[in-house]
Amino acid sequence: MKESQFYYIATYGCQMNVHESEKLAGILTTRGYLPTDDQSKADIIVFNTCCVREGAEQKIIGNIGAVKPLKRQNKNLIVAVCGCMTQQSKMANYLREKFPFINIIFGANNVEFFGKYLDTYLQQKKFQNDVIIDQDYIENENSVEMVRDSTLHAFVNIMYGCNNFCTYCIVPYVKGREISRDAQAVLDEVRQLVQMNYKVITLLGQNVNSYHSTLNGNPVDFADLMQLVCDMNGDFELRFMSSHPKDLTSKVIDTIARNPKISKYIHLPVQSGSNAVLKRMNRNYTREKYLCLIDEIKTKIPNVVLTTDIIVGFPGETQQDFDDTIDLLKTVEYANAFIFMYSKRKGTPAEKMPNQIPIEIKRERIHALLALEHEISNRVFEAMKGTQQRVLVEDENNQEYLAKVQCGKVVKIPKGVKNLSVGEFADVLITKYSNGDLIAE
Ligand code: 5AD
Ligand code: SF4
Repeated sequence: MKESQFYYIATYGCQMNVHESEKLAGILTTRGYLPTDDQSKADIIVFNTCCVREGAEQKIIGNIGAVKPLKRQNKNLIVAVCGCMTQQSKMANYLREKFPFINIIFGANNVEFFGKYLDTYLQQKKFQNDVIIDQDYIENENSVEMVRDSTLHAFVNIMYGCNNFCTYCIVPYVKGREISRDAQAVLDEVRQLVQMNYKVITLLGQNVNSYHSTLNGNPVDFADLMQLVCDMNGDFELRFMSSHPKDLTSKVIDTIARNPKISKYIHLPVQSGSNAVLKRMNRNYTREKYLCLIDEIKTKIPNVVLTTDIIVGFPGETQQDFDDTIDLLKTVEYANAFIFMYSKRKGTPAEKMPNQIPIEIKRERIHALLALEHEISNRVFEAMKGTQQRVLVEDENNQEYLAKVQCGKVVKIPKGVKNLSVGEFADVLITKYSNGDLIAE
């Protein structure tokens, strides 16, 4: 018998899922398992899934299927599947039928109970299946020891769920209604991370701008929460993800502008530049209102870096609608845009909308937009030449330090001028942009 038992976690989807996997890793570590990057060496494989687009689901189904031969080689191998796909009981049943070798299935909202499922499975060797929407789970957040992926970056959940019901999106059906985590619990976790010398703290939620809690009887909104974090002692940077434009207030923008600790980087998903499409998406803002917001951000935060999400080929999207999106992209000048082809999700209003767009047109549009964004992004980073940037040194090799600017872009700093160390913030002068990387001194 092997001395050590190994775990392998395959994580799909957003940063919230990446963070959930840190909890899974913690639960496995407290049970004596060690991590491995080699799936074939694992004694337990966990798939933490995403269901936001069909493409992701198909890939995950393929990857679960590929585990079957490993299961034949190692009869004791445990396979667990969790996350947003299995939070939907229909999908959980489908996976169970298709892959009878799966041992444990649980939902996105039950991650904290994984240890219990695993212990019971090991005792009884019987299939464990638990998919509940239990809003008490937020209280369990504080009870799980995590194994964080990085020693520099840390994620902190501030809320769960979503109330927005964008008509294309499955998240509100899977994750349930929005709830904010208690402000004191958030502040305690952040304080502990800062004391542990984490350098970048990212507050996570589907829509952090609608955060609301209380502290000593006083209301705390998202801007207040960020200010309370900034008031803590320590050399760290504060980021957040993700924002809904309809809830991003002037108070939040002012808080970002006046606090040196808050990253001057905002991910602000626009989804489309056409008012007709935004309306059918139920986004609750217009193109004009979004552009107004961008103006306010750029005026109050002069060096801000902006990124976005865009969906092409939403039902009924005309050439004119698409041209409006192109125009918006050119106006805002995002450093990066995550561009997706609309993907039908069962049970969402957009699934039933008329004038679904053929795949060829979706492909044409995504290629055009990707090419345009590539050009714009190059211009944005070219324009950083000659500017001072505060960067976090994250790695080094013989020739250079590898740092990152706030939006995650790599900055290479040649060695030989000044000694830096990994985990240190450095003020650098950007001298060049070449092959997709910034060069600094
Ligand atoms: N099809 C395509 N993209 C989607 N997104 C969410 N749902 C869908 C869908 N059905 C995108 C949105 C969101 C990002 C996380 O995923 O752009 O901002
Ligand atoms: Fe989905 Fe819209 Fe909620 Fe974002 S805000 S998770 S796109 S429903």
